[in-house]
This record gives sequence, C-alpha cells and structure tokens, in this order.
Amino acid sequence: MTLIYCLFFIAWIWVLRASAQETRSRQSLEGAITTFLTALTSHNSSLLPVAPDVEYTENTISLPFGSGLWQLANNTGPYRHDFVDVETGQVATITTLEENGIPVIYVARLKVESAGQISQIETYITRDTAGAERYKKLGSPEPVWLTPVPRGSRLNRGVLAYRANRYYDAIDLNDPDADYSFLDPDCSRLENALQTTKVSNATTYGPFKDTDFASLSCAAQFRTGFYGYITRIRDRRFIVVDEERQAVFSFAMLDHDGSVRTVPSNGVNGTAKRIPEYHDVPRSLHVAGAFQVGSKGTYRIETTKVEVPYGSRAPFDSDPISAAAGWRGRNDTLLASPCDRSCLNGAVEQVLKGMVDHKTGEGLPLARGAEYSENGRWIDIGDGLWRTLGSFSKPGGVEDYAVNFTDTTTGTGGYWGEVMEFSVPGILSLRVKVQGGLISEIEANIVRSEFRGPSVDTVSLGRPPIPVEYEGVPLGAIDPIFNKAWTTSGGRAPPNLTAEALGVAVGVYFDGLQLHSSLGVPFAAGSNCVRRDNGLQSNRHCQDQLNGSGGFHPANGLFNQTTTVRDRRILVADPVKGIVTAVAMVDNPATGSLPLPRERIVPGTYMVSHIFKFEGSSVIVRIETFIKWMPLGYKSAWSELELTK
Ligand SMILES: *[C@@H]1O[C@H](CO)[C@@H](O)[C@H](O)[C@H]1NC(C)=O
Ligand SMILES: *[C@@H]1O[C@H](CO)[C@@H](O)[C@H](O)[C@H]1NC(C)=O
Ligand SMILES: *[C@@H]1O[C@H](CO)[C@@H](O)[C@H](O)[C@H]1NC(C)=O
Ligand SMILES: *[C@@H]1O[C@H](CO)[C@@H](O)[C@H](O)[C@H]1NC(C)=O
Ligand SMILES: *[C@@H]1O[C@H](CO)[C@@H](O)[C@H](O)[C@H]1NC(C)=O
Ligand SMILES: *[C@@H]1O[C@H](CO)[C@@H](O)[C@H](O)[C@H]1NC(C)=O
Ligand SMILES: *[C@@H]1O[C@H](CO)[C@@H](O)[C@H](O)[C@H]1NC(C)=O
Ligand SMILES: *[C@@H]1O[C@H](CO)[C@@H](O)[C@H](O)[C@H]1NC(C)=O
Ligand SMILES: *[C@@H]1O[C@H](CO)[C@@H](O)[C@H](O)[C@H]1NC(C)=O
Repeated sequence: MTLIYCLFFIAWIWVLRASAQETRSRQSLEGAITTFLTALTSHNSSLLPVAPDVEYTENTISLPFGSGLWQLANNTGPYRHDFVDVETGQVATITTLEENGIPVIYVARLKVESAGQISQIETYITRDTAGAERYKKLGSPEPVWLTPVPRGSRLNRGVLAYRANRYYDAIDLNDPDADYSFLDPDCSRLENALQTTKVSNATTYGPFKDTDFASLSCAAQFRTGFYGYITRIRDRRFIVVDEERQAVFSFAMLDHDGSVRTVPSNGVNGTAKRIPEYHDVPRSLHVAGAFQVGSKGTYRIETTKVEVPYGSRAPFDSDPISAAAGWRGRNDTLLASPCDRSCLNGAVEQVLKGMVDHKTGEGLPLARGAEYSENGRWIDIGDGLWRTLGSFSKPGGVEDYAVNFTDTTTGTGGYWGEVMEFSVPGILSLRVKVQGGLISEIEANIVRSEFRGPSVDTVSLGRPPIPVEYEGVPLGAIDPIFNKAWTTSGGRAPPNLTAEALGVAVGVYFDGLQLHSSLGVPFAAGSNCVRRDNGLQSNRHCQDQLNGSGGFHPANGLFNQTTTVRDRRILVADPVKGIVTAVAMVDNPATGSLPLPRERIVPGTYMVSHIFKFEGSSVIVRIETFIKWMPLGYKSAWSELELTK
C-alpha cells in the first residue's frame, strides 16, 4: 500500500515537473513577456492569462490589474532585454514603449505559475525620453548578454546572486578602500542606455555635472568613493537568475538620506565637491539592475532608476520593518497630561527643534513605539527630516510663513510653515500627537521645491512637471488671518464648534474637489474666499476653481482633470483659531483629453497638503495648498494602518 502511494507520489511529482518545464521553458517565459506587452499596448488586459489574485504594480505601487498604463501604452520599441529564470518561473524585460505618445523606458517582471497563469506583474516606467530614444537607437542588447554559456562553465544560482549583491555592497556607503576584484577589468555599465564607464569623450554624470567620472572603469569609479552619498541599499531582490546566460536581474531600493554632504569630484584629483542640490533632501531611488557575470568577474551592468518617496518599500518581499523602528526617546520628563494648547505648541516646537539639531529623538518625551512618517512613508525617528532640516519659520514673525494650531480634545498639535533643508525650501505640514504626557505619533508631509535653476535635468529621475510648480519662490509672511483667533462680524462669539465638526466641513470640500462642483461647499460668499496653490493665487475665487470653470489662470490641473480624492486625512482641526490642516491623495489617471502639453499628460497622484481658515458662521475664507506629485495610486501609510486596525 505504502509503496503504491509512494510510486503514485513520484509519478505525480514527475507530471508536475514535466508541466512546469513546459510552461516555464525559456521560450514560453519570453513568450509570456511578448503576450503581456501585446495585451498592454492593445489596452486589453483580458488577453493575458492571469491568476485570479494577480498582483499588479507600477513604480512600487499596487494598482488594480488593467488600470494605469493599461490605458495609455503604445508602440513597444525594438530594444528588448529579457532575463529568464526557468527554475522559479520568473521573467523580466527591459524595453521601451510610449506612454500617451511619449517614449519611456519600461521594465516588467512576471511570475508565471506552473499552470501558466501569471500571478505577479511588477512594472517600472522611467520617464526619461532621451534614455528611451537611446535604447531605440541601440536596437538590441550587446550580444554577450544573450549568448548561452556552456553548462560546464556556469556559476550556480547562489554564486551569481552573491556576485550581484557585491555590487550593491560596493555602492552602499561606497568605501574607496574596499576590494573591487569582483569586477572584470573590462566591466562596463549602461544607465538609462547611456554608457557611464570608460567613456572617452567627456559626458557629465547625473546631477553631479562631473565630467571625469564616466571616463573611469567600474572598479576605478568605486575607488573614488564617489557613491558614498548613497547611504543605504535595502529591499535587494535577486529575483530573476538566468543561469544559461549567467545573468542576474535584480531590484533594490537606494536611500540617499542627505547626511553625506560632499563627494570626491574625481579619482584623479581627489578633490571633494558639494553634493548637488538634488541630493539636499532625502530621496529613495528604486533601481532595476542587471548583471552579466563572466569568468573574470562582473562584466556588464545595466540599470535604470525611478524615484519614489523616501522610505518607500519594495512592492514584493521587502525587508521587514524593524520592530523598534521609531523609538529612540530618552527623556524622563513627561509633558503635562492633559496637554493644553501651550503644552501642545511646545511639543510641536520640541519636535521641530529636535529635527534641526539632528537629534535622533534624544531629549524628546517619546512614547515607546512612537510612529513617524514622512509623506506617508514610515521611517525611523532620526532619519529623513531629522537629518536635513536646517530651519523652520516661526509663527507670528514679521516675514514668516508659519502657523501653529492645536486640538486639545485629541491631544494634537500642528504646524504649517516654510522650512529649509540645506539649500532647498519646502512647506511642512506637521502633526504631533500627545498621549499620557508622551509623544506617540509624528506625521510630516513636506512639499519641496523641485524645479529650480540647473537641477531641472534631474527631472527624469524624479517625476514629470505638474501644472503649477512650487518653485521655491519666497512666500513672504502668511496672511495674518491664519494666526488670529476665529472672528465673526458684529462682535458675536464664534460658533462653538468641535474639531470633529470642522473635519466634517472639510469632508464636504473634498467631496466637491472630487465632483468638480462647489455646490454645498461652505465657502465664504463671492470673492471672500481666497485660494493659493503652490504659492500662486489664481484670478478666480474658490467656488469657480472648484467647479473647474474654464479660463482661470494659472491652470493647476486639479479642478477638472482629476478623478478620485482618496485617503482624506484631517491632521489637526483647531476650533479656536478656525484652522484645519488636511492631506488627500488626488488621482489623475491622465486618460481624458486634457488641455496640457503631451509631456505633462502623465498619470499620477497628487498629494495635496491643505490648510483651511474658517471664519464667521463657519465658512472657509482661505485655502493654501502645496502639491507633490506621487506615483499613480500612492497611499499614505496611515490610511493603510487604519485599514488594518
Ligand atoms: C479583449 O480581448 C478579448 C479576448 O480576446 C476580447 O474578447 C475582447 O473583445 C477584447 N476587448 C476589447 C475592448 O477589444
Ligand atoms: C495609442 O493607441 C491607441 C489605440 O490603441 C490610439 O487610439 C491612440 O491614439 C494612441 N495614442 C498615441 C498617443 O499614440
Ligand atoms: C561619445 O563619442 C561617441 C563616439 O564618437 C559617440 O557615439 C557618443 O554619442 C559620444 N557620447 C557623448 C555623450 O557625447
Ligand atoms: C583638478 O584640480 C585642478 C586644481 O584644483 C583643477 O584646475 C582641475 O580642473 C581639476 N581637474 C578636473 C578634471 O576636475
Ligand atoms: C525633556 O522634556 C521636557 C518636557 O517636554 C523638556 O522641557 C526638556 O527640555 C526635555 N529634556 C531634554 C534633555 O531635552
Ligand atoms: C504660536 O503662534 C503664535 C502666533 O500666532 C506665537 O505667538 C507663538 O509663539 C507660537 N507658539 C509656538 C510654540 O511657536
Ligand atoms: C461648547 O460646546 C461644548 C460641547 O460641544 C460644551 O461642553 C461647552 O460648554 C460649550 N462652550 C460654550 C462656551 O458654549
Ligand atoms: C459653480 O460655482 C458657482 C458659484 O461660483 C455656483 O453658483 C454653481 O452652482 C457652481 N456649479 C457647480 C456645477 O457646482
Ligand atoms: C479645464 O481647466 C482648464 C484650466 O485649468 C481650462 O482651460 C479648460 O477649459 C477646462 N476644461 C474643461 C473641460 O472644463
């Protein structure tokens, strides 16, 4: 009996293996990519055989299968660099296509189950038109990438992944004195289809404008220590190991925390130069990195990068967040409990000062497990703004763009104001929650000036331009009305509202923002409500703007091109001052016909930071917003937390 079972089992395994080999041969896996690209550019997701619970991501964000680029992709280019892992059913490609008619670099990874169904689709769109054009010109990968290596000369999977990992180890805080013998002396690298090693003619490197770096070999580049500004590499996934071609296709998250302030200008002079403005603020770049490993070491490297909000996690199999993340507090002095208005203002100021002092939470009365987020991503207290914040405007100052406010019913203090991180101005909306005399939550949303002066050419790493940019223009003092107590006409007492009631009013505004209708939104009548977006005031009043009424200037695209207003978060509602700060994710899938130039018709989500001022009988008299472009479908970690609660 046992024997029969045993034989049956062996036969069953054999059948499974045989079918796995059939559906996961190199040919069938490359075919899966072809089918995928055809379905994508036909804008028809039902042409793809997917598992019922297929997971689909774009630029690290989970999206409903069939949405996003599925509506906008056309014309895949001739360049197609496939990587096939027959053992695990993984296949990836580096190619190009057109998004709404604009060429982009496109990376896709599929996981194909043994039954032939696709269960994971992970995609990256690098919006670098020049890079896409270079790939189109190249036409196909260098033959060495595609040449099968005889079985006897192959390194095994583990060794291949190990070699690929050495490359990330080398970049991580790049030690010039480390051992770089894992690199073939003839190693070379393509970044967005641009050769960036051993180039004889001077080409500038990234935002650094360094003209020598790209002339060096792979190893010589590392020996300069130049990559020291990449402070951590997380979520490394050596996900497609192509044994036949001795190649590894990987993903990794590169953090630039802003703490490294200079880079060696080149290997020859040994001089240091200031880190460029682009790296003055914390950034994470998600990299797709491919490696071809030969007998003398890593021989070819091909990479492309997409910027994602700092602290973003990889969409599949990211490293676990450390359990104690966020708790660094050492202060035995508790805040008052309950914490009144001045106590809450004090807590906010302590947090801001702690950031400016680059403290990692020491001296702060932090609760154990206190949570910290920046632009909707969990990061450690001590990281992010705690490394880069240089100064913050103070409320009540003559030239200061800053407001403070509190909600004593929930023990929450807030700040809205202009801050500086090294050379980069930004608008910070901060929420600090105090419970039992300790700070338990800190939420920072910061919209930085991205488009100033010569750093414009880093846009391809970052994001497309948005209709109205915050260009770091000096904002002057904030309208003093924001810092005044609630007033009503005729000396009557302001309505005795709860913070909750104010939140409800803002909810009505968000409904209006989504519906492109000002009907029922409690705006002050006529021209008494003034709105500014990214520091710019339009020539129309709040009602018409929310309506998307044509002809107003400047057009910021928020009012008639967006679909859903999601993840609406009231941060702080202060019924004494009549202040509410709130943040929402506003989707622009870029599918409609839009009165904008083509290169601006890019799907995305606007993270919109708002501050509202209520007056009179609870009507909105002022709105200031700052808008940050995010990958389409971006969610705040707080919303995700609430969903799981
Ligand atoms: C999508 O493809 C399916 C399967 O071939 C087909 O039945 C359907 O008509 C297509 N839809 C569109 C909108 O072309
Ligand atoms: C993309 O292709 C669709 C048809 O598949 C076509 O309607 C559309 O005009 C094309 N868009 C661009 C920008 O080429
Ligand atoms: C460097 O020179 C080569 C050969 O002349 C040329 O193909 C390439 O485009 C040049 N690169 C740059 C960045 O100018
Ligand atoms: C090397 O340093 C010298 C003197 O500081 C400078 O003039 C020269 O431009 C530098 N060379 C390069 C290639 O940066
Ligand atoms: C500890 O917290 C108290 C109350 O918030 C504050 O006054 C004090 O300065 C803090 N101590 C240190 C060492 O920062
Ligand atoms: C809060 O703002 C008021 C001005 O409205 C100012 O007088 C006060 O000092 C501020 N408090 C803190 C802690 O910054
Ligand atoms: C304001 O309303 C709260 C209940 O919402 C009440 O407890 C409080 O007494 C009221 N204050 C005044 C001044 O009317
Ligand atoms: C647009 O705003 C005006 C006020 O400016 C209002 O009278 C009108 O009802 C609004 N229309 C819609 C569709 O919301
Ligand atoms: C959308 O808004 C822009 C200004 O932002 C305006 O020019 C255009 O006419 C509006 N389109 C529609 C359909 O309302």
